[in-house]
Amino acid sequence: MPQITVDGEVIEVAAGRTILQALDDAGLLMNGVDVPHYCWHPKLTIDGSCRLCQVEVEGIPKLQIACNTPVKDGMVVHTKTDRVKRAREGVMELLLINHPLDCPICDQAGECKLQDYAYEYGVTHARTKEPRRAAKKRVDLGPTIVFDQERCILCRRCVRFCREIPQTGELAVFHRGDRSVIETFPGAELDNPYSMNVADICPVGALTTKDFRFKIRVWFLNDVPGVCTGCANGCNVHLGVATNKVYRYLPRRNDAVNDTWICDAGRMTYKEIGAESRLQRAYVRGPGGLQESGYKAALEHAASRLRALLDAKGPGVIAALASPHATNEDLLQLRRFLDAAGVQNAGVAVPIGPADELLIKAEKAANATGARALGFADAAGVVDRIRGGGVEALIALGHDVLDPAYLGGEAALAGLDTVIVLDTHRSELERVAHVLLPVRVAAEKHGTLTNHAGRVQRVRPAVEPAFEAYADGEVLAKLGARLGLAGFDGKWDVRAVSRALGRECPAFVGVDVESVGDEGRSLATVVAGATTGASV
Ligand code: SF4
Ligand code: SF4
Ligand code: FES
Repeated sequence: MPQITVDGEVIEVAAGRTILQALDDAGLLMNGVDVPHYCWHPKLTIDGSCRLCQVEVEGIPKLQIACNTPVKDGMVVHTKTDRVKRAREGVMELLLINHPLDCPICDQAGECKLQDYAYEYGVTHARTKEPRRAAKKRVDLGPTIVFDQERCILCRRCVRFCREIPQTGELAVFHRGDRSVIETFPGAELDNPYSMNVADICPVGALTTKDFRFKIRVWFLNDVPGVCTGCANGCNVHLGVATNKVYRYLPRRNDAVNDTWICDAGRMTYKEIGAESRLQRAYVRGPGGLQESGYKAALEHAASRLRALLDAKGPGVIAALASPHATNEDLLQLRRFLDAAGVQNAGVAVPIGPADELLIKAEKAANATGARALGFADAAGVVDRIRGGGVEALIALGHDVLDPAYLGGEAALAGLDTVIVLDTHRSELERVAHVLLPVRVAAEKHGTLTNHAGRVQRVRPAVEPAFEAYADGEVLAKLGARLGLAGFDGKWDVRAVSRALGRECPAFVGVDVESVGDEGRSLATVVAGATTGASV
């Protein structure tokens, strides 16, 4: 492999890479070696237009742009010389000549690369007296994005994104020279399943999402690493959290899962965390219908109904549905619960929707693969048995069995003796449930999820529910203890359960909640960590 020297440090690089790519590969870009850049993005083609990434290369008289200069064995690069400093100051001064003085009212303030680089690499005052160029403000580009033409620095990241990633090509540069502007083609809108990524990659406040703009100043947000639960891809995200509320998802780079992108539908799933439709109370069915109940009383009621059935008719009349949204740890606890109770009739109902070749998967749940790895087959068998009259009690984690591919509604459950539902959100199962128990969503608990490719990824609590709710596994631990099941004492230790995954299900060897890290590892085998690092 070629070796280059950057600021005195020798780096081994892959042949055929540019200086900026080599720094990114080594995890050094803006993380030890500062080469500020606007137009370059690790997942887009090279544009070479902003000229901010200029560096000095020994043996070449002129400064070179690091994003488009291929490495050569023995190359010596300097990023901190006076020439480089002056070049950066010049580029920043040019970019700022016409930039509006919008920072106090700009939603990008606090995470703006123009602010950051002006502070780090710019000059302290302007030499121009002329008025700044006026351009269009608040341009509605489509259903998700608002554009401020004055703030645009013409890096063309958004144009290349639309051409190269969703390949919809809605945006282009129109006109020439200092009249150049970004626009959509006449009559066209920026409207594709990944459109909101343009706001993430726009280095300034020119492109903002309608969903997030002006909701909160970004410096109030804490970024908590997590996983999108919108489909089986398990895209890595940052949850932007303030005052116990999730305000947004942003893509978190993981080259093995989602590069630096997420889809718009998945991005919006953060709203489900604090939704009004969350199941916020435990309920027990009484003579007058469902009534609010204390959590403990509801657990007691569920246990007494199940105990009566187990004693009278045995475990053969009980069926269970695993949730493809629950964590691997929750599902191992369900497995243990069913084994201890002798219940064999169990499955997992997985909702299905549209997919594409980029990220979006057909399975609209984050952990269907984990459920299958833990031995839960498709719920079709459970559904047949319910329809055939062979089931008298159902323990349902979630309500996906209502999907048209399974029961298509709750009517088939109306005649059951006992329906116990552990759920995050309200559903029609309320009409037939005898006990309803609120549980936590992935953003409220520790655990792991297994994506479509068998990559086990960690989730952690970003927020606390404002009502009494537990992880599904903890509810099952409490229920098992009340039923007197062997091995159940009511205590829930998610880390211990996670470590037991590998012992009780060999596919999970080496992938517990502590060891998978923030990038995840593949089932059964531990793969080398995926590339991460540089800001995008
Ligand atoms: S709108 Fe943003 S991403 Fe697009 S060219 Fe302008 S500055 Fe770059
Ligand atoms: S592709 Fe799937 S996992 Fe990724 S952001 Fe979209 S819904 Fe979420
Ligand atoms: S990042 Fe190299 S020219 Fe823009």
